Amino acid sequence: MRLLVCGGAGYIGSHMCKLLAEHGHEVAVVDNLSTGHAAAVRWGELHVGDIGDAAFLDRVFDDFRPEGVLHFAAKSIVGESVTDPAIYYLNNFSSSLNLFERVRRIPECPLIFSSTAAIFGVPRSDLINEAHPKYPINAYGRSKLAVEQVLQDYWTAYAMPSMSFRYFNAAGADPAGNIGEAHHPETHLIPRVFDSILGRSCAMKIFGDDYETPDGTCVRDFVHVNDLCNAHLLGLEFLKVRRGALAFNLGNGTGFSVRDVLKAAEEITGVAVPHEFTDRRPGDPSRLVADSSLARESLGWTARYSELPDIMQTAWAWHRDRKF
Ligand code: UFG
Repeated sequence: MRLLVCGGAGYIGSHMCKLLAEHGHEVAVVDNLSTGHAAAVRWGELHVGDIGDAAFLDRVFDDFRPEGVLHFAAKSIVGESVTDPAIYYLNNFSSSLNLFERVRRIPECPLIFSSTAAIFGVPRSDLINEAHPKYPINAYGRSKLAVEQVLQDYWTAYAMPSMSFRYFNAAGADPAGNIGEAHHPETHLIPRVFDSILGRSCAMKIFGDDYETPDGTCVRDFVHVNDLCNAHLLGLEFLKVRRGALAFNLGNGTGFSVRDVLKAAEEITGVAVPHEFTDRRPGDPSRLVADSSLARESLGWTARYSELPDIMQTAWAWHRDRKF
């Protein structure tokens, strides 16, 4: 298929482009490079521009004539969404709407949307499935949930097929080491652990050790970026036979604590992680773990990387020798 990847210069989007190309798809990337990297775009032509720019999108769509769209372009720092929500409603909501307006002019063009565990808000159960109540507690989660709701309406009214994937904690990197997670500034746990080990930052801060979890630190569901991307491949096939505005939770189904992450990093690198404990970070739920049985049953998806050290090993190979 000819597939347009919006946000294809970013962390997950760039891994997606590689996988799509390996599966014989023709790829084009749209990215405004606000957080992505031109160097990460190696499997399709890069069109630098903003999905909020209708004239720009028209040019790309007329030129490339996509048969499907994968939409990764977004701002994704929870804390920033609290202090500056406008960025999130403009980039994640308003610009997505602009993109969908262009997509729906192509009859039955499938769209896959990157959603997030943040749409669920404070977890009310150990495992979070699709039926879990959705009361996001920050503008990031609210902007993503609003887009999911738009997609429901667009299916009902315009028969625009779509699939939303709620990622839990995306982690790891391309095992070949050519692309990986590279946010500036970096706020995520695993890259910060490796930056700390490599002396690229000062001792990292661990946000809270008094949570009601087995070791007092937060528990997260780390899922390998390539496993997330594999779900998109399966989703594209699924949308050919079962149309709708569908949504799936994607995670390993296993929780690992922040201390587990530090321990795994020390085992992989043989270096103690310079760190200090500090106050809780506002808005961090104590535990976020996915129930992905619907994705397993419907799409045949499984996370091939189920062990934290295996996921982190790929991240380490990337961070040790980062290209951008
Ligand atoms: N953490 C630290 N120190 C750091 C960075 C993180 O202790 O320097 C802790 C956090 O407090 C949290 C855990 O590590 O307990 C994971 O934090 P991340 O920032 O790596 O990831 P989040 O769980 O906050 O964020 C993820 C996704 C978001 C999504 C959110 C849902 O990255 O896109 O889950 O809550 F919105």
